[in-house]
Amino acid sequence: MDFRPVGIFDSGLGGLTAVKRLRQLLPEENIIYFADSARVPYGEKTPAELRRIAQQDMDFLKSFNVKAILAACGTISCNTAQTIEDYPVRAFGVKDSAVSAMLQVPCESPLGIIATEASIKSAGYYNAIKKLSPDREIICVPCPDFVPLIEAGRTGEDDEELLRTVEKYLKPVKEAKASAVLLGCTHYGIIAQALRKYLGEDVKLISAADSAAESLRDYLTENDLLGGEGKLSCYTSGSADEFAQRAETFLGEKLSIMPEHIPVMEV
Ligand code: DGL
Repeated sequence: MDFRPVGIFDSGLGGLTAVKRLRQLLPEENIIYFADSARVPYGEKTPAELRRIAQQDMDFLKSFNVKAILAACGTISCNTAQTIEDYPVRAFGVKDSAVSAMLQVPCESPLGIIATEASIKSAGYYNAIKKLSPDREIICVPCPDFVPLIEAGRTGEDDEELLRTVEKYLKPVKEAKASAVLLGCTHYGIIAQALRKYLGEDVKLISAADSAAESLRDYLTENDLLGGEGKLSCYTSGSADEFAQRAETFLGEKLSIMPEHIPVMEV
């Protein structure tokens, strides 16, 4: 048994989709979540900025004596793999587990990958899939407008602006008849209904957030690190009140501990 918390971070609310999945799988774990909302979106930042951000966010979580860290962010995972791997506390991104899930999809039809500008630019997901499955056809689409819309609460499947944006980005994926689409940004799980409405029920949506939570569960289980009282404590570099109001939509439950604001860090 190990009662130390697990540390999870993202640029904002998106990583809460990974927290939600982890709490379904391991409800007793104590979790420290950090939403770096003052610096959202990460998808517009350079790899050098993202490396500094990853280091700072992990250092913040490490100060809580965490037993493992999850960078619940595709942008950080695709751009800072070495920073995550070298970190003195065992840390994971969402890329490797997402790639493993994509490789389970039967080979006949193309795969779609949607993610932030910085994730697609890094070719992190694309190269990792191609390395193991070189003949796979993959359509990659950066979707820079999704995170600002999602952070602004425009997530309903009937939201016209969201639906127009979904069509704008997903058209090539639909036209290529992709059988599966990777939601390579952890924010995107929250617009799964709108994506499904456009793509149709037959297209499999693979969530980078869910697969990362599942592999974190495996790591904690296999290494005898399970244990806790199910406490979820959240910190944000943005407004604690706004975070508290919005978190429930992402988490599927009310926060029982009020989030705390921490000062903005310099990039
Ligand atoms: N949710 C993050 C990701 O998975 C970050 C998105 C952003 O801040 O641009 O990429």
